[in-house]
Amino acid sequence: MTKVSYYSGETFPLEMHKVRIIQKLTLLPIEERLRAVEEAGYNTFLLENKDVFLDMLTDSGVNAMSDRQQAAMLLADDAYAGSATFTRLHAKLTEIFGKRYFLPAHQGRAAEHILCKAYITPGCTAVTNYHFTTWKAHVTELGGRVVELIRPEGLLVNSDNPFKGNFDVPRFEALVEEIGADKIPYVRMEAGTNLIGGQPFSLANLREVSQACRKHGVKLVMDASLLADNLHFIKTREAECADWEIADIARAMSDECDIVYFSARKLGFGRGGGIITDDEGVYKQLRGFVPMYEGFLTYGGMSVREMEAITVGLDETMDEDMINQGPQFISYLVKTLDEAGVPMVTPPGGLGAHVDASRFLDHVPQTQYPSAALASAVYLASGVRGMERGTMSEQREPDGTEPLADMELVRLAVPRRVFTLSQINYAIDRVRWLYDNRRLVGGLRWVEEPAILRFFYGRLEPIGDWQHELVAKFRQDFGQSL
Ligand code: F0G
Repeated sequence: MTKVSYYSGETFPLEMHKVRIIQKLTLLPIEERLRAVEEAGYNTFLLENKDVFLDMLTDSGVNAMSDRQQAAMLLADDAYAGSATFTRLHAKLTEIFGKRYFLPAHQGRAAEHILCKAYITPGCTAVTNYHFTTWKAHVTELGGRVVELIRPEGLLVNSDNPFKGNFDVPRFEALVEEIGADKIPYVRMEAGTNLIGGQPFSLANLREVSQACRKHGVKLVMDASLLADNLHFIKTREAECADWEIADIARAMSDECDIVYFSARKLGFGRGGGIITDDEGVYKQLRGFVPMYEGFLTYGGMSVREMEAITVGLDETMDEDMINQGPQFISYLVKTLDEAGVPMVTPPGGLGAHVDASRFLDHVPQTQYPSAALASAVYLASGVRGMERGTMSEQREPDGTEPLADMELVRLAVPRRVFTLSQINYAIDRVRWLYDNRRLVGGLRWVEEPAILRFFYGRLEPIGDWQHELVAKFRQDFGQSL
């Protein structure tokens, strides 16, 4: 929480910034929300933003920029090769991460593409604390296998473990023993582990992973897309780092890794990404892919304006007051809903609050996509757009069998520096109403199921007619109100 304490004894988040540009929002009546979600095939990715009140789909590319970022964008140096803008971004990354080389890419998955093209070979085993959808799609597309070595407590929905993203080093040692280190191209540590609820790993754990990797000659790669949240959690939850500057924590993390990559749609309050390393051999090996897939080495698919914004955004990320608003709002959202009896992932993580759809809709089997059904129901009840993070986000095996997700979640992302606390309170109010009426919500089935990354653009329909029952109950309880 903030360093401010209150006379009333209450605690609530306090933003250390003010809003100077606003965007008007529209809240449609529930009947129009029903029309919109039907047109979207009960997939919140396919809703049009004009039909959304609070867009809590993602924290990607929708974080608010600061005045300093906007100002820097005006100073961008437009050049295909060797722009001063690129030099500034490169210098900032070297200052923060202590690594000499930077390969720009247009977003995080483009960095993953390059890292997979270079290192994934058919039959190899790519090891991670926990997968992310886009990275796993690249690994499997190239014939590799993904092994997740999250510690068992990471998969508990409710826990008081502050570092649920931690990696299981003994299981890694056993895996190396079993298949040999030469089958493992790299270990990927995802900061702020997305799919298990934005959960961080500790610096102590990263050090152990790094030691094991060095011992076996396996590269250690950090996905730093959600680094800002992970830095905040290390500072506030890891005793050793309580008095460290954020920049010192970032540097200590980077020092343990051979390669760091990131989506600047999350890290740095902009849009872009890239790969950082201090290893000249790695740099030269990866370099050729940048002009081939992204753009020349000094822009990699990013606009110069965005690169300027990222440079300043990375600088702001080293200021605790600039990165703690997101985690604090999420903590408030999770705690308030949890106290009201709504099943939530605890402890609160970064990037968003995560509702436990398997308990919320315990009458809907996983094969009927409870997370997707709940995401649609939340939109119907509130105009808030969340995201399915459950079985629908999984991919079928080559033989057509459907893996059931470890967790069935609905993510209510909290884009950084965007919402006010009253908007968060509105979301809480409507989720509480929905929880009291949860038995009305049923499952979904496919109308159109794409083979790859089906959650992005697949279309579904309700099993039964639960959507109309929910609308009728809403009208009964709220009258003609929105
Ligand atoms: N790694 C992590 C941890 C991510 O959360 C994401 C994106 C990526 C890589 C890929 O980056 O989108 O810039 O290509 N997460 C988005 C989300 C899609 O909504 O969670 P990208």
